[in-house]
Amino acid sequence: MVSTPSARTRVLELRRVLEHHNRRYYVDARPEIPDAEYDRLYRELQELEDNHPELSDPASPTRRVGGGRLEGFVTVPHASQMLSLDNAYSKEELREFLDRVMRSLERSDVEFVVEPKIDGVAVSLQYEEGRLVRGLTRGDGRTGDDITANLRRLPTVPLNLSARQTLEIRGEVFMNNRAFEALNRERKKSDEPPFVNPRNAAAGSLKLLDSDEVAARKLAFMAHSIGRMQGRPFATYTEALALFESSGFLAPPGRGRTSGLDAIFGEIERIYAEKHALAFDVDGAVIKADRLSDRQRLGETAKSPRWAIAYKYAAERAETTLKKIEFGVGRTGTITPTAIFDPPVQLSRTTVSRATLHNFDEIKRLDVRIGDRVLVEKAGEIIPQVVAVLKDKRRGRLKSIRSLKTCPVCRGSAARLEGEVALRCANLSCPAQVARRIEYYASKGGVDIEGLGEKIVAILIERKFVKSISDLYRLPRHREKLLGIEGFAEKRVDNLLAAIERTKRAPLERFLSALGIQHIGEEAARDIAAQFGSFDGIRRASVDEYLAIDGIGPRMAAGMVQFFRRNKRLLNEIQKLGVRPAAPKRVEAPDNPFKGKHLVITGALPTLSRTEAEESVRKLGGSPSGSVSKKTDILVVGEDPGSKVDKARSLGVAMMDGVTFETRIREAMP
Ligand code: IVH
Repeated sequence: MVSTPSARTRVLELRRVLEHHNRRYYVDARPEIPDAEYDRLYRELQELEDNHPELSDPASPTRRVGGGRLEGFVTVPHASQMLSLDNAYSKEELREFLDRVMRSLERSDVEFVVEPKIDGVAVSLQYEEGRLVRGLTRGDGRTGDDITANLRRLPTVPLNLSARQTLEIRGEVFMNNRAFEALNRERKKSDEPPFVNPRNAAAGSLKLLDSDEVAARKLAFMAHSIGRMQGRPFATYTEALALFESSGFLAPPGRGRTSGLDAIFGEIERIYAEKHALAFDVDGAVIKADRLSDRQRLGETAKSPRWAIAYKYAAERAETTLKKIEFGVGRTGTITPTAIFDPPVQLSRTTVSRATLHNFDEIKRLDVRIGDRVLVEKAGEIIPQVVAVLKDKRRGRLKSIRSLKTCPVCRGSAARLEGEVALRCANLSCPAQVARRIEYYASKGGVDIEGLGEKIVAILIERKFVKSISDLYRLPRHREKLLGIEGFAEKRVDNLLAAIERTKRAPLERFLSALGIQHIGEEAARDIAAQFGSFDGIRRASVDEYLAIDGIGPRMAAGMVQFFRRNKRLLNEIQKLGVRPAAPKRVEAPDNPFKGKHLVITGALPTLSRTEAEESVRKLGGSPSGSVSKKTDILVVGEDPGSKVDKARSLGVAMMDGVTFETRIREAMP
């Protein structure tokens, strides 16, 4: 069939238009058309291609059929190692890098490309004679997981190059901020844990086993490196980028090509100033020698090339005024000062109106006063901090902040305990302490009383229904009175009472950790529950009996005995009211990769907290532990891992990255 010229023209036009909108959406943060309009254009192209098969082109954005479901990923060696980059944090360190390069090349006019560093997930794409044959994750740099089926579903991964080269292209897969926020909104709605940042979201999405799900995640790929290549298709990175872009790849936007310290530094600053307008997170600039012959002469170290460096931008900072300091009282009486800002400031995607000042030593160290102009910083996902007080902007006489003598809530005496920085309210019946203890008891990490959050606890305390944990179990007697409180409809009250009733048979270890005994975390609570098997057994145990348990030290043992001695009345009451925590049960876990395995986690996982992850492993019949030893079967390596990795390597322990770990957990969970 001969296609009409108009069909051919329209097809070409649509492909161009869709590529343009890809760039607008994924890179520039300025989509010009609504999603529905994009989908309409996409469908129009698909229909034209269906009706005119001779016009279809393997490189068309429509050629991305489902890869189906995978059983798991296969680990494959990289053609050449995927290296990382060295970092520079100052102009001085940049100068040292440039000096080294110029000395080695014995030339001062070395040209560099300076471009944004994309905060994404490194992947490698292998093209043979112009066709995409394989896509791998970075993995440990030497081997990566084969995620070809998933990468094929990204509209910005061209399935064909504009020329028939055999070449490996490397770059970052990322999720832009808009897609990230939409994904997290969806996850919250369906009660799934949100991703901490777009990078984690991208990493997690790439490891999904269903490529249809991957396609829905709106991931993008940006090309920034050349891996193994056949022949010498280009002499410079700039030429390679031209090929990338003519094949439909996204390439780092706002690149500059220049030489000399000052000019390069100027580019770094320009990229910093422009990065806010981009649709994705940029955490630095990459400075790389343009000529491939220069790169070859400079070579690489075991970890990184000598021809490139990453200039990391400092954490984001903003200036605002300290309006007041609020004091919070914690479960154990700790009084914590919090700075309140006016106006709130915008820092890495969130509005920050408060930040913890930790304790009075910190207030003294900063010498911060009400009315001061302050600098607030938030590095990545880390909580906001007051990092400096701008003393030269201080106007008039501001009073310095003195430590408190009394608790801001109950007015009881407040003091610092020997050897502690924290100021504590000594009154165990301080309403704030009581509230925190009850909130802690009722929280998800505690016995989990649905519907009993901060607000309800505050009301119950204020109306004097509750003064201690045991009072929760007396609430049924006050049902009628509770119904009289505004907002306490019948259904709500009955649901709450039913939720409280259920906790009478809470698992023993949960009940124990919910009591909030000092030094007794979830792990210790579990070990103790497993050892004694009943609440009565625990109540009767002596310091020596506690010390006999693996992992229980003298502080914990003393803490337990002291708590049970001091709280005899409360515990008797709770028992009399029918609370009988359930003894730990041993259930046989179904077959899965963690069953019977000793596992250690290091670094941060994409979505799960350490406790959640360990609990899942335990449910699957594995035993998590805190340190690597000869017994360890698997080390799970999250982000910013610690020295455990070296230890595991020296012992030959198998490693699994955090994303794979979470995927395997989700698959294995009954
Ligand atoms: S060039 C040998 N350019 O950052 C590696 N890398 O922290 C050459 N990255 O491993 C990499 N944006 O995965 C290059 N514009 C960019 C980049 C970039 C992000 C990643 C890359 C690298 C990591 C180092």
